[in-house]
Amino acid sequence: MDAFPIPAESFILGFIGAGKMAESIVKGVAKSGVLPPDRICTAVHSNLKRRDAFESIGVKVLSDNNAVVEYSDVVVFSVKPQVVKDVAMQIRPLLSRKKLLVSVAAGVKLKDLQEWTGHSRFIRVMPNTPSAVGEAATVMSLGGTATEEDGELIGKLFGSVGKIWRADEKLFDAITGLRYVASWQRSSIYIFSN
Ligand SMILES: NC(=O)c1ccc[n+]([C@@H]2O[C@H](COP(=O)([O-])OP(=O)(O)OC[C@H]3O[C@@H](n4cnc5c(N)ncnc54)[C@H](OP(=O)(O)O)[C@@H]3O)[C@@H](O)[C@H]2O)c1
Repeated sequence: MDAFPIPAESFILGFIGAGKMAESIVKGVAKSGVLPPDRICTAVHSNLKRRDAFESIGVKVLSDNNAVVEYSDVVVFSVKPQVVKDVAMQIRPLLSRKKLLVSVAAGVKLKDLQEWTGHSRFIRVMPNTPSAVGEAATVMSLGGTATEEDGELIGKLFGSVGKIWRADEKLFDAITGLRYVASWQRSSIYIFSN
């Protein structure tokens, strides 16, 4: 298979879903300096106030999801899990092997992501929210044709906003549960000590 390396010095990162998670990642990545905000893009869906949230960081806000896919080398699915399939089917005709896809949607498996998009250069990542303050704890798993270099690129990106580990996707739910328990314990300690 031909390799289409993502150019680390010039790639464009696009987000489908201009919500809280995308904003958190963008703020963290921009603050860390790993990627300047003018190499990041997204599009707003129905809530037009989201345009300001992203433009104020310096992110390009394009007209729609298709424009984001066409403009980006790496496309992150940051919509709610129940919306992922519709979005995947919508952008499917625009995909080529040059694009690397990433999903942060909780509970949506690589097998389904790959089937809906017809694209196996995919990485599933599971961050928690504190990306904007550089304290995210993220796990990632590589899909069928994602390369080691793709994994390193996404590792560097999410590593700029916290810690990142490779893990078998089968363990994602368990890891998410453990993180939930750990953060609940931290909040409980905080509440009880106050
Ligand atoms: N927040 C977290 O702590 C967290 C942690 C780990 C993973 N995640 C994952 O991150 C994803 C996003 O979560 P979130 O908290 O950021 O949710 P959110 O704030 O509701 O963001 C979702 C965004 O998707 C947009 N959207 C809806 N339908 C769309 C469509 N067809 N095309 C393009 N955009 C569309 C929404 O726009 P409108 O509001 O305008 O419709 C909204 O801006 C989820 O899959 C979640 O599982 C979140």
